[in-house]
Amino acid sequence: MFYKTLKKFPDDFLWGASTSAYQVEGAYDEDGKGLSVQDIYETPEGITDFKVASDHYHHRTEDVKLMAEMGLKAYRFSIAWTRIIPDGDGEVNTAGIAFYNDLIDELISNRIVPIVTMYHFDLPLKLHEKGGWSSRNTVDAFERYARVLFENFGDRVKYWLTINEQNVMINHPNAMNPGTIPSKKELYQQCHHMFLAGAKAVILCRQLCKDGKIGPAPNITAIYPETCAPADVIAADDWESIRCWLYLDMAVYGRYNSLAWSYLEEKGYAPVMEPGDMELLEKAKPDYLGVNYYATATVSASRNDGTDCQPRGGDQQVMIGEEGVYRAGQNRYLEKTEYGWIVDSIGLRVTLRRIYDRYHMPLLITENGLGARDLLSEDGSVHDPYRIDYLKRHFEQAQMAITDGVDLIGYCPWSFLDLVSTHQGYGKRYGFVYVDRDESDLKDMRRIKKDSFYWYQKVIRSNGI
Ligand code: BG6
Repeated sequence: MFYKTLKKFPDDFLWGASTSAYQVEGAYDEDGKGLSVQDIYETPEGITDFKVASDHYHHRTEDVKLMAEMGLKAYRFSIAWTRIIPDGDGEVNTAGIAFYNDLIDELISNRIVPIVTMYHFDLPLKLHEKGGWSSRNTVDAFERYARVLFENFGDRVKYWLTINEQNVMINHPNAMNPGTIPSKKELYQQCHHMFLAGAKAVILCRQLCKDGKIGPAPNITAIYPETCAPADVIAADDWESIRCWLYLDMAVYGRYNSLAWSYLEEKGYAPVMEPGDMELLEKAKPDYLGVNYYATATVSASRNDGTDCQPRGGDQQVMIGEEGVYRAGQNRYLEKTEYGWIVDSIGLRVTLRRIYDRYHMPLLITENGLGARDLLSEDGSVHDPYRIDYLKRHFEQAQMAITDGVDLIGYCPWSFLDLVSTHQGYGKRYGFVYVDRDESDLKDMRRIKKDSFYWYQKVIRSNGI
C-alpha cells in the first residue's frame, strides 16, 4: 500500500549497533576466561588467529568513545558466558564481572542504552564436553549464569536478550559444533532444552530485574513461494513455520507451533519432555521480540527425490532445502551481495508485518547489515557507499513498517565495528568502524571511521529524517 505521509520514527527510537563477544573481544584466555566452543576451531595455515578478533577487550574505552561520537542510542553486545563462569557451571570469575561492569558503566555515562545478549553461539567448552545442550544440566547451568548476570548487571541493564539465533543453531549447526555435528533428532532435543533455558531466564528476570525487559533474538525472515503454484505456497508455509514460527510461538505462547510439531513427529525428531516442561514454557512471556533479519528466502515444493538439499550460493558450509519438505527456489527480482546473500529491503517490511501481526509485541531489530570486502584507501579512509545504500533502503522499509502499524522500538545494524564472521573470516566486514587487521596480519588494530559511520551519525541526529 502507498501512503501519502509516513509516520516518523518514535522520539525514543533506539538507533543502535550490534556485536557479539567472541566476534569482537579477543583476549579469549585472559583474566580467567574459560574456553568456549568458538575458541577451539582450527585456524587454517597462514591465517592469523581469529580468536584475537577485533581486540575490543583491550580497546573497550576507545570503542565506546566512537559509539558516543557516532551518537548511538543503544549498543547491543553479548556477554561471554566463559568470562563470567569459565567452565559454565562452576566458580564466578570476578575479572569477567569487572570487564562488563566497566563496559556497562561507560555506555551509560555516554547515554548509550546497553542491550545485552546472554548467549551468542559461544557455549562454554566444558559444558559442551559434558553433552552441551543435549544435557538438561546445561539448562540449569544457564539459569545459574542468568542469575549471576541479573544480580550483577540487572540494576543498570534494562534490555536483555536470552539466546541469539536459536533457530540458526538448530538449522545450521556447523558454526557452533566443533567436531561432530549432532543428528537432527538430537538437535531438536537441544532445541527443547534451549527453550527451557530461555524460559527460566525470562522468569528469573521478572524476579531480579526491577525494570528489566527480556526477549529472544531469533533470525526471522519471510519465506516466499517461488511461484503461485499451491504446492510452492505449502512448501513456503511449512518452512516458515519450521524455521521461524516454531521459535516465536514458543517464546510468546509457550507452545509448539502445530505445523512444526507435525514435522517433528513425521521425521521422528520430536523431543523427549519431562513433566512440568510445558507449564514452565507457558509461564515465560517475553516483553519484546528481537529480530535478526538479513534476507528473505524463496522456496519451491520438494521433489522428494534426494535432490532437495543443496549448498547455499556455492557456500558448501551452509546447506538449504530439506528432503521431503522444501527446496531452494530462485527469486529473479532480488540481487545478491558479493558473498551470495540475497538483498531484500522490502522483505524486511514483509517480515516485520508478519511478526507483528502474529504476536502484537514491540519489536527490536537486533541485527541487519551488509558483509563486504571493504578496502582501506590510500587517503586513509574507507568508502562504503554500498553499505550506506543497503542500510538506507532497509531503514526506509522499517519506516514503512512503522507506518503500517508495527511497534518497532529500535534498529541495531550488524555491526558496530568490523568483526570475525561466523564462518567467512575477517575479510567479510560489516562494521561502521574499520579495524586495521586482515586475515594474515594483525597489524595495529587501528580504528578507522568508514563513510557509513558519518552517514549513520546524521541519520541518528535527525532521527531517521
Ligand atoms: C547472524 C549472527 O546470523 O549473522 C552473527 O548472529 C553473524 O553472529 C551474522 O556474524 C552475519 O553472518 P556471517 O556468517 O556473515 O558472519
